[in-house]
Amino acid sequence: MVEPIRRSTREEREQWIKEANYNLFKLKSDQVFIDLLTDSGTGAMSDRQWSEMMLGDESYAGASSYFKMKNTIKEILGFDHFLPTHQGRAAENVLFSVLVKAGDVVPGNSHFDTTKGHIEYRKATAIDCTIDEAFDTTVEHPFKGNIDLNKLEKILKDTPQEKIPFVVVTLTNNSSGGQPVSMENIKAVRKLADKYGAKLMFDSARFAENAYFIKKREPGYADKTIREIVLEMFSHADSMTMSSKKDAIVNIGGFTAMRSKELYDKASVFNIMYEGYLTYGGLSGRDMNALAQGLREGTEYDYLDTRISQVAYLGQKLAEYGVPVQHPFGGHAIFVDAKRFLSHLPKEQFQAQTLAVELYIEAGIRGVEIGALLADRDPVTRENRYPDLELLRLAIPRRVYTNNHMDYIAAALANVYERRHSIVKGLKIVNEAPIMRHFTVDLAKV
Ligand code: F0G
Repeated sequence: MVEPIRRSTREEREQWIKEANYNLFKLKSDQVFIDLLTDSGTGAMSDRQWSEMMLGDESYAGASSYFKMKNTIKEILGFDHFLPTHQGRAAENVLFSVLVKAGDVVPGNSHFDTTKGHIEYRKATAIDCTIDEAFDTTVEHPFKGNIDLNKLEKILKDTPQEKIPFVVVTLTNNSSGGQPVSMENIKAVRKLADKYGAKLMFDSARFAENAYFIKKREPGYADKTIREIVLEMFSHADSMTMSSKKDAIVNIGGFTAMRSKELYDKASVFNIMYEGYLTYGGLSGRDMNALAQGLREGTEYDYLDTRISQVAYLGQKLAEYGVPVQHPFGGHAIFVDAKRFLSHLPKEQFQAQTLAVELYIEAGIRGVEIGALLADRDPVTRENRYPDLELLRLAIPRRVYTNNHMDYIAAALANVYERRHSIVKGLKIVNEAPIMRHFTVDLAKV
């Protein structure tokens, strides 16, 4: 779809962002010129996906659309059992309702906030085992999403087996910058999990982008197709959750899939309670059709090459302007290092959120903070958590913007960078929710 976007004045934007309490989630979409809040559900569907929408089977039970999705998941990801859900966090809710209990420990690579939320809500603990290289934006490493095997082994060794429901591998690692996990690392994690009797779960929102990076960067994979790499990746997992709003290029949808029939049976109860009957689980037939088609298109090399090259195009422009960004460039987004960008502001004034607000005022561009606001408070001490990385994420929707838009974004951010020393005041929290506060938080200028 092609949609018009609306330009505004700086005065209008200053007023709007103030009314939104300096929380970009609270802006109206028509107050935004270029929307880089997320790549989730914001992609443009293809002609084939829209055609599939017309063929949706809306039967309550046993719809052909369900079987279309089931067969596609089997063919592309290799799982026999799956449950449709309305999006990724719903898949987490269904699966974790079976697997995660109070006192459990779930190691992984920078758990996404909803994943962590679903773990902590159940009074379990998520432990980040991402490699240290990921937390220095200047270090070049081909697979900054990787799990540090020493960190992981220490947890597996020190924790009773029954307290570890699974190890989670996030593909790609969103929070550290859309960074991929290598096949070598996936295999090594599997081996460690086996050694200590643990299961392996993939949070797979951007699995196809991960496969693209393996093809491009990992020795031995250059001549394999994306589909071959994807099948190999998932062959190491016991279960998975999927936010189809990313690499399946739909506006809504998700699922959880598993090898074990027993796990499927247990999860089915929660799917029926929280989502819907087993063969639609929160989705309409037409949604399931578009999702199945999207899984095919999302795993095509030409599409992935175009997409990821566009993200790199923006990253390269920003690097040329001297703007500090996470290196190498991520799959779905460019992550601006707000700690280096606004190094003169204290972390207590939320550097990345301050930068997000400045970029909006500068040019009507909406990014998102991946920093201290998102990190929430420690569930036990209730102290603010200040993560190693304080980032402004510029997520690029799939098949929506042109490189002309990328030029505009880069120039706008370069302008903010030039006047960065004039930004002398950050933000403070006025109101916040007890968990996942960043969506609804109210802020004020210090
Ligand atoms: N896992 C990862 C790695 C994600 O990035 C997301 C969502 C989810 C799970 C949850 O999926 O939104 O369908 O419920 N990420 C979006 C983002 C919201 O902007 O990065 P969901």
